[in-house]
Amino acid sequence: MDEYTAITGNTLLEDSALEFDLYLKSGSNGHSKYVLFCRGKDGFSKEKRKLLLSKDIDRLYISSEDTGKYLRYQEDNLKSIVNDKSKSSKERSGVVYQVAQNLISNLMDDPKSGENMERVSGWVQNTVNHIMDDEDTFSSLLDITSHDYHIYTHSINVSVIGLLFGKYLNLEPHALSRIGSGLLLHDIGKIAISLNVINKPGRLNGDEFTVIKKHPKAGMELLEHRSSVNVLSLKIVIQHHENYDGTGYPYGMSGNDIHLFARIARIIDTYDAMTSNRSYADAKKPFAVLAEMKNDMSGCFDMELLREFIGFLGPKDPRKKRRPDDTLYSTPSFSN
Ligand SMILES: [Fe+2]
Ligand SMILES: [Fe+2]
Repeated sequence: MDEYTAITGNTLLEDSALEFDLYLKSGSNGHSKYVLFCRGKDGFSKEKRKLLLSKDIDRLYISSEDTGKYLRYQEDNLKSIVNDKSKSSKERSGVVYQVAQNLISNLMDDPKSGENMERVSGWVQNTVNHIMDDEDTFSSLLDITSHDYHIYTHSINVSVIGLLFGKYLNLEPHALSRIGSGLLLHDIGKIAISLNVINKPGRLNGDEFTVIKKHPKAGMELLEHRSSVNVLSLKIVIQHHENYDGTGYPYGMSGNDIHLFARIARIIDTYDAMTSNRSYADAKKPFAVLAEMKNDMSGCFDMELLREFIGFLGPKDPRKKRRPDDTLYSTPSFSN
């Protein structure tokens, strides 16, 4: 049986050809039928939109097989979607996040593809624009970041939080682009590591930890010859596990020898990992995590930046509302 996926009509641009057909759902009592509304090649016209409006229909359907094409369509039109003030900040942030999920999954499948790297720059650019000219993105984007740790969601969360924090620090848009790309790609070296190690419930043994520690260099090797990846983004990839006191890896760099962007990454990477559900620990509350980072892990971070980060999240982090109670897990010795 064919499967269908719901989409909202207002994510479609008028008069552009689509690579997927649109359906309407009809029927009741559990006997729903999907009726062809618009052939993709005919495009989605103004008249079609009017027709939907007149019938008060917001929900359209696509064949589930076309989900990838639909997400790619949103990605190609992300600039218009992000600039479309008729959509709420929440709707626009939702598209930004969905597009990133599809992009990251394509990227992990084929990290050597130049096209996928270009797509990373495009996504970051549009997300920077979204963040710069909309005051509501702080809550709408942060609200959407997922609480379950997965390498895809973690990468997107860290990138989104990094862009918002960068804006708070008054960094220029071009610096934000470097940060956004670097953070989105920071753990890409993990694709070389067995999933058994990455998803292992419980603590890693010494050998497994040695394997994990290779991911910054593996990521660097994957990206360093790509012209579309800026050298400042690469600093994040290679240095995001360096600790301010010199105890990190892979080089044991310390203090301000670690690039500012990587010092920012160290904080956000840890924060996101500890506030998410991971295979070896439940999510902790943001306040507890910030306190632990400040009191028990202070050697890892640039404390001045950590203070800024705490001020930036302040009382505003929407994750605070929905976190499960604290657990008594001890601090993991690394963040994923
Ligand atoms: Fe990492
Ligand atoms: Fe990470």
